[in-house]
Amino acid sequence: MAQNRPQEVNVYSGRHYNTDKQLYSEFTRRTGIKVNLLEGKDDELIQRLKSEGNNSKADLLVLVDAARIYRAQEANLFRSIRSAELNKDVPANLRDPKGQWFALTRRARPVMVNPAIVKPGLIRSYADLSRPELKDKLCLRNRASVYNQSLTADELVRRGKPATQQWLQGMLANTKRPFFTSDTPMLRAVGQGQCGAAVANQYYLARMLQDKNSTERNTASKLKVVWPNPTHINISAGGVTRSSRNPEGAQRLLEFLVSPQSGAGYAAANNEYPLKGWGNNPTLKAFGTFKASPVSMEQLGRRNREAVQLMTQAGWE
Ligand SMILES: [Fe+2]
Repeated sequence: MAQNRPQEVNVYSGRHYNTDKQLYSEFTRRTGIKVNLLEGKDDELIQRLKSEGNNSKADLLVLVDAARIYRAQEANLFRSIRSAELNKDVPANLRDPKGQWFALTRRARPVMVNPAIVKPGLIRSYADLSRPELKDKLCLRNRASVYNQSLTADELVRRGKPATQQWLQGMLANTKRPFFTSDTPMLRAVGQGQCGAAVANQYYLARMLQDKNSTERNTASKLKVVWPNPTHINISAGGVTRSSRNPEGAQRLLEFLVSPQSGAGYAAANNEYPLKGWGNNPTLKAFGTFKASPVSMEQLGRRNREAVQLMTQAGWE
């Protein structure tokens, strides 16, 4: 009797959570396909795949943020796949129209305010961040942040260039310097009253609220999440690589990860939202719900360069 050779799938991932590994083990238990995981920083993984070319052992590439996924696609690292399951579980605006990548989780980038300094009711949209009442009360992360680049691209797609330029100008006039290099210290500054409002991904605040350190939890508890209408969302996503020796296995793993059941686990690992609805994470539930921007992830990637240009022109450092 012919013996089946054991199957393997090699995953290069920009995500680093233990719960991800549990899901990979569950996949192996169900399918017999072994998952080998190589973790790294997103941009380094893209670089690595580029230099490995056709010899790369990667079957599945998992990255965070639409702009990075688009960059990997532009570098021709993915292959197109067709899957009824992926098309059913991943909403159309959260996957590549050509089937090269598919969202695994959603994250949102709302406004977070310290109500002692900024009235939450002042802010109903990102456009409101340019209101004169916020003068010297706003704190922002720097332009290098791909999260802010995607936020700007979202505004650009929804509201066009002149409105985006005007928004950037007004918002940056309100912003205290220097710009922050990451979200968490920026949120601490809001909680401690050095700033009244900031724009940050929801999982950073969730993490602070769950921190072992009570000072950190206390600082985080001063913040209130304000959901702009609509709210900018982004994704972590995966795609089968062009070099894959086992594209069928990689596709099965992708299908497993986006299924509502495993998708919930993948999202929970980092206090993220599942692909549909808001999930059951009590910390996130306490933040309330939002109306997600309808802009597609593909458009965020496509308009990234233009967005960065406008940010630079407006003086976003
Ligand atoms: Fe992050």
